[in-house]
Amino acid sequence: MEIGSLFITFEGTEGSGKSTQVKLLRRKLARRGVAAVLTAEPGGTPLSNRIRSLFKAQHPPPMVPLAELLLFNAARAQLVETVIKPSLAAGKVVICDRYTGSTLAYQGFGRCMDLDLVETANRLATGGLQPDLVFLLDLPPGVGLQRKSDQRLDRFEREALEFHERVREGYLTLSRRDPQRWVILEAEQDPVALSQSIWDRVQEALPVEVGCKGY
Ligand code: TYD
Repeated sequence: MEIGSLFITFEGTEGSGKSTQVKLLRRKLARRGVAAVLTAEPGGTPLSNRIRSLFKAQHPPPMVPLAELLLFNAARAQLVETVIKPSLAAGKVVICDRYTGSTLAYQGFGRCMDLDLVETANRLATGGLQPDLVFLLDLPPGVGLQRKSDQRLDRFEREALEFHERVREGYLTLSRRDPQRWVILEAEQDPVALSQSIWDRVQEALPVEVGCKGY
């Protein structure tokens, strides 16, 4: 069912449970006959996935913050132009795991880059396309990193706790600046309850009311 476009993004520090919530939201929409387009950054196109592999490599090449900023935005430009914008233009619901908020939080607040510069790069990559709703799954970074401690860590997961604290504070600052768009949720609560809060908010934002198909 086409219900009119809606662009929803999820943000949060490492291990905050975004991907679980993205899937639960997709399922809730599907039960009501709404097929959402799901994507995640960095990734979602062949080029963006190549860029992603640079960040996920066990031995990533040395990279200055500006290169990092531009690579995330190169991956984003391709995703926005070939996936997100066409899907929204076709009246679809798009759910993206991370978007421009990640760049402001990680490169801006985490790497201490100039926030205006980060915003300029984000705007260039997106043509100014902003999400309608941003869910921030807020979690003390120590807790989230603990959840990942038994896995092979990537470039960002290996950063010091202070880096992740700055990212978290950055996210909270961004949310407070734009409370119409951002919804702060406590990520340590039960995933089912969390999913319900997300759903309540999405229902309010949906262009038309959707009813459950009974399964
Ligand atoms: P990923 O494995 O997708 O992490 P997660 O499951 O937490 O989303 O890795 C993406 C990493 O890239 C994550 O640590 C956040 C970081 N990142 C940035 O630093 N800037 C960005 O603009 C984006 C999109 C991601």
